[in-house]
Amino acid sequence: MTDPILDIAKLSIIFASDAGPVEVVKSVSLQVGREIVALVGESGSGKSMIGRAIMGLSPRGATVTAERLRFEDQDLATLSERGWNRLRGSGMGLILQDPKFSLNPAHRVGPQVEEALLLHTQLSARERNQHALDMLEKVGLPDPEKIYQQYPAALSGGMGQRVMIAAMLINRPKLVIADEPTSALDRGLQDQVLTLLRSLTQEFGMGLLLISHDLQQVARYADRVIVLRRGAIVEQLPAAALSDARSPYTRGLWAARPSAATYGTRLPLFEDGEAAS
Ligand SMILES: Nc1ncnc2c1ncn2[C@@H]1O[C@H](COP(=O)(O)OP(=O)(O)OP(=O)(O)O)[C@@H](O)[C@H]1O
Ligand SMILES: [Mg+2]
Repeated sequence: MTDPILDIAKLSIIFASDAGPVEVVKSVSLQVGREIVALVGESGSGKSMIGRAIMGLSPRGATVTAERLRFEDQDLATLSERGWNRLRGSGMGLILQDPKFSLNPAHRVGPQVEEALLLHTQLSARERNQHALDMLEKVGLPDPEKIYQQYPAALSGGMGQRVMIAAMLINRPKLVIADEPTSALDRGLQDQVLTLLRSLTQEFGMGLLLISHDLQQVARYADRVIVLRRGAIVEQLPAAALSDARSPYTRGLWAARPSAATYGTRLPLFEDGEAAS
């Protein structure tokens, strides 16, 4: 790994509940350099909570603590709201599962792709427009000029996800968090979008935290893998070593390839009380 872009030590996230506090992320330490790090684990293991905490987007009611929470030379634990806003539009980007929830249906695609440039740079309208067209082309969309003018409803799922990637990368973030970025797409499109993310990660020298259920898939795209179970890290290993991972939990996830139909459901393998470790 290169110098870490993101450096987290002992991150804990706790929710209050009627039955007392529930620790959904337990003392998680991880680093991301200029590489693809996959964060995997069964549904409910805390993947999205970690991703959101890194972006300063934890839900209400969550208590987030950490021994260290650093993004480059910034201490995220003490960042002001203004600092977060600046960081989210320039240093970090977030790609979610379904572009339908991230793109505003009432606005044309182009201005949404450009938004980070409008908010965080001094570029002129013409320059922003040119950057957006270049970026739409870079993510493999045909006829960028036409797509620029379209509304999100005119896009297929795969095109929408490419537009999201264009919008997230237009201001060249150092770190992108992609939370199940392809779960809403069919298998062929998943591979295309992950191939695109991988090549852009390399070209831009970014770090990518790729959150996924699908170990066999991340094994093909990630450099390293962090395996989570019930909020705690079970193991960290090179992606190439996944197929002969030692931990029974990781082996179980490897064998239980999820599909769109099982997305969001708990894998039957690890019902409560099960002894995998
Ligand atoms: N607002 C909330 N209040 C209380 N508990 C919550 C809240 N949001 C999430 N949780 C709990 O935090 C835990 C981790 O959730 P998280 O969404 O991070 O899981 P995940 O690994 O992303 O799962 P999935 O693969 O299904 O997306 C879960 O047990 C969830 O029920
Ligand atoms: Mg999630």
